[in-house]
Amino acid sequence: MSFRVAVLPGDGIGPEVVAQGVEVLRKAAAMAEVGVELQWGDVGGCAIDASGDPLPDVTLQLCRESDAIIFGAVGGPKWDDIAPEVRPERGLLRLRQELGLFANVRPAKVFSALVEASPLKRELVEGLDIVTVRELTGDIYYGEPRGVTTIAGGERSVNTMVYTTAEIERIVRLAFGVAQQRARRLTSVDKANVLETSRLWRKVVEQVAKDFPDISYEHMYVDNAAMQLVRAPKQFDVIVTGNLFGDILSDEAAMVAGSIGLAASASLGNRTALYEPVHGSAPDIAGQGIANPLAAILSVAMLFKYTLKLDGLAERIEAAVEQVLTQGYRTRDIHSPGMRLVDTAEMGTLVLEALG
Ligand code: IPM
Ligand code: MG
Repeated sequence: MSFRVAVLPGDGIGPEVVAQGVEVLRKAAAMAEVGVELQWGDVGGCAIDASGDPLPDVTLQLCRESDAIIFGAVGGPKWDDIAPEVRPERGLLRLRQELGLFANVRPAKVFSALVEASPLKRELVEGLDIVTVRELTGDIYYGEPRGVTTIAGGERSVNTMVYTTAEIERIVRLAFGVAQQRARRLTSVDKANVLETSRLWRKVVEQVAKDFPDISYEHMYVDNAAMQLVRAPKQFDVIVTGNLFGDILSDEAAMVAGSIGLAASASLGNRTALYEPVHGSAPDIAGQGIANPLAAILSVAMLFKYTLKLDGLAERIEAAVEQVLTQGYRTRDIHSPGMRLVDTAEMGTLVLEALG
């Protein structure tokens, strides 16, 4: 069998970390005797510079024809002042929408060698293993009406939070399924004490839950969830929530787990899936070769799990990362006294060697 993978490095540190992820993909695919055909495309700021569009048609077409996408990061100060419709982020948001990538799966797992990297006390995070399932194609990110109008005395801006039964049902169902593969606990996060969208969300969760009697689930308000994540994060197994709340909580969970430099994600839809490190383009360190490639590498592990259905290979990549960390190798973002400082390429090479 042969799989087509679109590689969209994007901006900032995207190209540096994706290059390491691609090497791991090539090696692991060879180990599994799976054929992968890689094709590169532009997205984000570099695509704006080349063609004026953060998601050029050729890139979208390439993605549609692929089985999976490896995505780096988009954005940077260079494009901060341009019109919102053509900002680099629009490229990513459109890609999610065009490909129907409605489910964003973000694990936050503490590697034992990195317990000290968490800003929280050791006993709170040792063994931590959470997955956030974030709805990704609805909510206030895409709701209409939106925009800015001029009114007497200034301007008026509006965004709309909107969810339909069907949109909630498919993400909640997927999250219950994820919980079945794990510790069978699901926390649905909303703001049902204030928002109509959240009250509908709760109602749908109640209905879907009937099909999953083996899962223990609860509802939690988003403000409380933000607090619980730093007070007692190990109470969570799977969190399911809407697009905006999920954006915020998944960053918080990643930091609690030690470093955003290790946070991987999979965006799943009906066919092509997108794999992306959570950390973003980090323009302040771009081009220096010092970024942490582990989130990109762990995103490739997710590709093996979700697209190629080769869980064993995914686990071997994770184990290789764990081994390198246990040996004391650290990029600058997670470095501490006594550890061995390495750059982006060295870290990638170490993981390749550990893969065997
Ligand atoms: C993320 C990012 C994006 C989002 C930005 C870059 C549009 O923060 O993937 O979490 O808000 O979804
Ligand atoms: Mg975010």
